[in-house]
Amino acid sequence: MEIKSIGIVGAGAMGAGIAQVFLVSGYEVLLLDQNESALTNAQESIRSGLNKLAEKGKMSAQETEAAFGKLYLISKTANFENCDLIIEAIVEDLGVKKALFKDLEGIVSDECILASNTSSLPITSIAAALQKPERMIGIHFFNPAFLMSLVEVIPALQTREGLGDEIADFLRKCDKFPVVVKDTPGFIVNRIARPFYGEAVRIYEEGIADPATIDWAMTTLGGFKMGPFALMDFIGHDVNFAVSNSVFKAFFYDARYKPSLTQQRMVEAGYLGKKSGKGFYDYSPDAVKPAPFEDANLGKLVVERIVIMLINEAADAMYLRIASRDDIDTAMTKGVNYPKGLLQWADEIGIDTCVRKLDQLYNVYHEERYRCSILLRMMAAKQQAFY
Ligand SMILES: NC(=O)c1ccc[n+]([C@@H]2O[C@H](COP(=O)([O-])OP(=O)(O)OC[C@H]3O[C@@H](n4cnc5c(N)ncnc54)[C@H](O)[C@@H]3O)[C@@H](O)[C@H]2O)c1
Repeated sequence: MEIKSIGIVGAGAMGAGIAQVFLVSGYEVLLLDQNESALTNAQESIRSGLNKLAEKGKMSAQETEAAFGKLYLISKTANFENCDLIIEAIVEDLGVKKALFKDLEGIVSDECILASNTSSLPITSIAAALQKPERMIGIHFFNPAFLMSLVEVIPALQTREGLGDEIADFLRKCDKFPVVVKDTPGFIVNRIARPFYGEAVRIYEEGIADPATIDWAMTTLGGFKMGPFALMDFIGHDVNFAVSNSVFKAFFYDARYKPSLTQQRMVEAGYLGKKSGKGFYDYSPDAVKPAPFEDANLGKLVVERIVIMLINEAADAMYLRIASRDDIDTAMTKGVNYPKGLLQWADEIGIDTCVRKLDQLYNVYHEERYRCSILLRMMAAKQQAFY
């Protein structure tokens, strides 16, 4: 696999960020968007991103000029003719993505690798639209792509043997931290992170603690960079709820991934978070930030319950061979800045304690969402640890 020229379709938040990653690594990048203003905005944001690297002394002025000189804004897919790799970062719509790849396949060489940056669509399903589905792969960057080092690499069922590892090697050379993941809903990060939001909302719905208190507990006691409510407000409830919904549906409505009514109502009301001025918190200029109830026992209970649910999800992902132990732990620390790997955290808490706490929740609620991963149960019985 030799990559010299990279095509990117979609010059939005992700496409522009991905383009910058490859320009900095010395590749020629052809960027296409159906919307001309998206292209010029992307060009500006790449220019300013490269300037920042120069200001910080990470690249010389000549290097940034050379990188910028390798960016080509294009208007037709036909211009991708000589690309070795094309990554799409267009609208999250299976039909539109399939149509794009069918079109691309008629233009590029037989060796050109076709990749999708989708967050939630099955790569296998996109690949099914191709004449040569063995060249299709998921390359899932995190936002902002030039800052977040994690990239999930997702071979489809049809992807040729070895392509996942080749793409991972290539990404390592671009200073990224790739993890190879099975093509399952939410891949690693968006699957394992569900309880960070879902369990926090549940605790709030039950009146155990309010958003400010849960956020205080998760940041101050739990060591997370942002609390779940502040983070949901930041991501946008429309986006976060859509991911929750799609993961829930994709798992054939497994109750473990059930989205919350609270979040649905926020979306219906247009309380989308920071971008709409109101979410769980009020973002108007004169708003007073609610004070958390800083009770150490309550805080500990909140952190424990959310972290135990995250650990359960991480253990299940390992049990179902979605990814390896190390990849699962680094994905969560590098992809969403968790304070430590969840499986390492499980060892620190003790596997038997994790099982006991999950069983306590299950016994109280009798709900499937609290069912303990079989892997944790087997490990507890054998007194094993992840590390
Ligand atoms: N935003 C994130 O945090 C994030 C993170 C990881 C992955 N993703 C995925 O990346 C993809 C893009 O997301 P985004 O946030 O950059 O979206 P965005 O809306 O910012 O940008 C999408 C761009 O694609 C263009 N576009 C749409 N259809 C097109 C077509 N048929 N041909 C050419 N251009 C087309 C649009 O004009 C727009 O400029 C989605 O699949 C999304 O799921 C997003």
